[in-house]
Amino acid sequence: MASDKIRVLIVDDVAETRENIRKLLQFESDVDVVGTAGSGKEGVKSAVELDPDVILMDINMPDMDGITATEIIRQKLPHVQVVILSVQNDQNYMRRAMLAGARDFLNKPPMGDELISAVRRAGDMARAERAKGAQQKMVTASAGGSAMTSNFAPVPRGKIIMVYSPKGGTGCTTVAVNLALALHSDDTRTVLVDANLQFGDVAIFVNVQSKNTITELAPRIDELDNELLEEILVKHETSGLRVLAAPSSPEMAEQVNAEQFVKILQYLQQVYAYVVVDTSPILTDIILSVIDVSDLLVLITTQEIPAIKSSRLILDLLTTMRIGKERVLFVMNRYDKEKRITPERVSENLKCEISTVVPFDDKLVTNSINRGVPFMVDNKSQLVGRGILSLAESIRARLATLESADEIPIRR
Ligand SMILES: Nc1ncnc2c1ncn2[C@@H]1O[C@H](COP(=O)(O)OP(=O)(O)OP(=O)(O)O)[C@@H](O)[C@H]1O
Ligand SMILES: [Mg+2]
Repeated sequence: MASDKIRVLIVDDVAETRENIRKLLQFESDVDVVGTAGSGKEGVKSAVELDPDVILMDINMPDMDGITATEIIRQKLPHVQVVILSVQNDQNYMRRAMLAGARDFLNKPPMGDELISAVRRAGDMARAERAKGAQQKMVTASAGGSAMTSNFAPVPRGKIIMVYSPKGGTGCTTVAVNLALALHSDDTRTVLVDANLQFGDVAIFVNVQSKNTITELAPRIDELDNELLEEILVKHETSGLRVLAAPSSPEMAEQVNAEQFVKILQYLQQVYAYVVVDTSPILTDIILSVIDVSDLLVLITTQEIPAIKSSRLILDLLTTMRIGKERVLFVMNRYDKEKRITPERVSENLKCEISTVVPFDDKLVTNSINRGVPFMVDNKSQLVGRGILSLAESIRARLATLESADEIPIRR
């Protein structure tokens, strides 16, 4: 019976590879190659149109990588089984692929029988999943239950880290951008969100152009999925960090409200390990909501009296908002050891310990901003870079402590 065949879609940007794989499968009577696609995006489209059992997926492709495509496909079609074909036997790729919902991982070029048995295994799985899906649909329909059809293994919720300074110009954006880069890795994918909706400059700091910003995302909040994110988020090419840029002009800021902003952050934290949010000093509804949903708040001060005074005010406000000190990491930026106001004195005075000190380095920081290349990209071994690395370390340690004490904030 024709429908008994395992229906396979091949996604690879190299025509020759597609053809070679097709040839390896063509004499298998139980396998039917129903289509091929030359890019990640095309792969998603073909998957939806063809509803195959198995997809053989390349990783590196120009418009959308195979891992992202896998994630989107698995969300749309949970029964479809993806087998990743990759040149390198890279553990990180493998982990990410598995997290994205891939079923199997083969080295390129695959051996004939290895490929065929992987396709058969995945084909069996697809059938079982289809049958299970059909059964579940019947159950949920009769119980009137939720329409969640995702087949993803539960991935731990990512952490929202807000970087805030009540005083302008203390280096909030500098810290947020470089911290996001320090936290970002293949295993802990990170997104940097600009919550300074009027004069946000995150995109400039990392030198990315964005025709899509949060203004385009906010009105489509109810259709939020990975595909839409992929369209709106900008990729920082050197690192792979994703950026959600601020509106392109200040008057557009009011097109985004706090409710939408929070929904976006909460969606992002399902996909990314860390959601780092840069903010503006003015306590808008949006900034207050971000405080509310953040797992950690990195509070920036300097050795100047106005900054210290404003820090005192914000620490008082946080107490009023019932945000515990365990959720705050107090940071002194632009630290100059020649100045009389020491971190210890500030800690004592404000009764909040300064956990990290980031030294002053005018030349390096100004240069990095003007070139649009954050120092964590090309200068991380300098003292400022080491300050940021130590902040990232403190964040990981604090999150681990909070988690083990089960004190992660209760979402309101
Ligand atoms: N560790 C540092 N050493 C030297 N200069 C620094 C340091 N951190 C930040 N700066 C400088 O401080 C200025 C302000 O930095 P940044 O834009 O990051 O601050 P901000 O708090 O985000 O400002 P805004 O209120 O405008 O958003 C920049 O000129 C930057 O070069
Ligand atoms: Mg800023």
